[in-house]
Amino acid sequence: MERSFTKPVTLKIQPKDEPLRLFFDALLAQDNSDNMASAIVGFIEPYVFKMENYKRVAETYSRTIVSQPGNGFEAMIARWSEKTVTAIHGHPDYAFYYCLAGRIGVEHFMMEKSGLGRISSKIMRPGEYYSIQGKPGTFDNAIHRITSLEESLSLHVYSDDPSKGRVFKADRIPSSFVTVQQHLTCPRSLRPAYRCIADRSAYRHVRHC
Ligand SMILES: [Fe+2]
Repeated sequence: MERSFTKPVTLKIQPKDEPLRLFFDALLAQDNSDNMASAIVGFIEPYVFKMENYKRVAETYSRTIVSQPGNGFEAMIARWSEKTVTAIHGHPDYAFYYCLAGRIGVEHFMMEKSGLGRISSKIMRPGEYYSIQGKPGTFDNAIHRITSLEESLSLHVYSDDPSKGRVFKADRIPSSFVTVQQHLTCPRSLRPAYRCIADRSAYRHVRHC
């Protein structure tokens, strides 16, 4: 069955997340994404994220912007209702997305001569993330579609306003996800984790410990 995406609801920060805002204001003010992923993950691991602190909107997802320091970077928490599907869309050059709770299907695509081609599909579980560096000044990096397989929560960081991301009119491509057994596992922490590095010609998953 063909599925259509629904527009998200964007919200301002909630008072309970003040420490989160302070962390991201300081981090994003550096205007340097080189060490962004490790800093964010180091903050996330001891921080307690409660699903109920973020607004649930039926049949779509809410976007709670926790930091927008004015240099283009944005940090946002998304709360997903079950079976929400986004459009296939691109992002500014740096994109980070981390599954905090639930199960989130992520399909990555790349523009090929024959059209949009799916290059990977994964189910993200809590503790798994992508950190993708593309080409500065462009908005068709990390082309993906997200499907929330259950009620979920995720954290997103972008190097520019994500609403500038290119949207692709190719939503007739049916969703497909591999099972979690194909994920890499970090041997030291026994927590599955991902880094996805994109150079616009290939994606590769590398072990993250
Ligand atoms: Fe996205």
